Amino acid sequence: MSIKVRKAVFPVAGLGTRFLPATKANPKEMLPVVDKPLIQYAAEEAVAAGIKELIFVTGRSKRSIEDHFDKAYELEAELEKQQKQQMLDIVRNILPAGVSCIYIRQAEPLGLGHAVLCAKPAIGGEPFAVLLADDLIDGGARGCLAQMVDVYTHYNSGVVAVQPVPATDTDKYGIVEVKAIDSRIAKIHSIVEKPKPAVAPSNLGVVGRYILPPEILDILEQTPRGAGGEIQLTDGIATLLARQQVLAYEFEGTRYDCGSKLGYLQATVELALQHPELQAPFRAYLKARLPAL
Ligand code: G1P
Repeated sequence: MSIKVRKAVFPVAGLGTRFLPATKANPKEMLPVVDKPLIQYAAEEAVAAGIKELIFVTGRSKRSIEDHFDKAYELEAELEKQQKQQMLDIVRNILPAGVSCIYIRQAEPLGLGHAVLCAKPAIGGEPFAVLLADDLIDGGARGCLAQMVDVYTHYNSGVVAVQPVPATDTDKYGIVEVKAIDSRIAKIHSIVEKPKPAVAPSNLGVVGRYILPPEILDILEQTPRGAGGEIQLTDGIATLLARQQVLAYEFEGTRYDCGSKLGYLQATVELALQHPELQAPFRAYLKARLPAL
């Protein structure tokens, strides 16, 4: 029987250089899409998948992430005084009851594999999820991580979210070579970090959602620096493959690469079109605006 996935790691120590100057003093994970910061979308997706412990691997200039998930006494008192109940509920429900946060500092930016390894003391010997907040995934009724937990529970093995990417973009992703075993589910034969299109084994790219067994942490301890001089999670998974099965899962939903300006704008437009208060006026605005483009 599979052990329940209760913990999720959020590597948030990256510098966010693609969004400078917005990210000079503010974490990229705090950039809002409509009215919620990216990190909150990822946290909500994790909580909806049954995660109870959120482990943030942070760095310098990331204090506002801690503040965001903390209680805000003055703000709550003020909203209460002004009887703004709806706002009060929004602020209070950022973190549902029974969900706790742990913050670990990644002192040096040594890569995603290193960031995940930093979380080792908080993970213990359990399977865990990893969510990269700049991949915003609109999974519709069932979030991407919840879908992956179903796959993990059924097969009792690690799961990595994938999607087909343009053949010219393989050097932006971890790329997997797979053999299908079910609809949307395939066994990974090999995985490689950011291969050039000419040598990529496929065009199935890893997106920022993983469910991994605890053994990956011991492997990462021994993983040398790889692509970009960083300790790559992808390289750790490649080693893990020789010891146990890891599955690739083509999730249902739409992924927005909010690490890029274009992806961020696309997410903003699409989520605004779903927002209860904004959808009607924003749609009207777009309709009036588009013919002139
Ligand atoms: C990371 C991973 C990469 C993965 C990507 C998904 O890269 O290293 O394997 O495909 O996230 O967003 P990054 O985008 O942080 O360079």
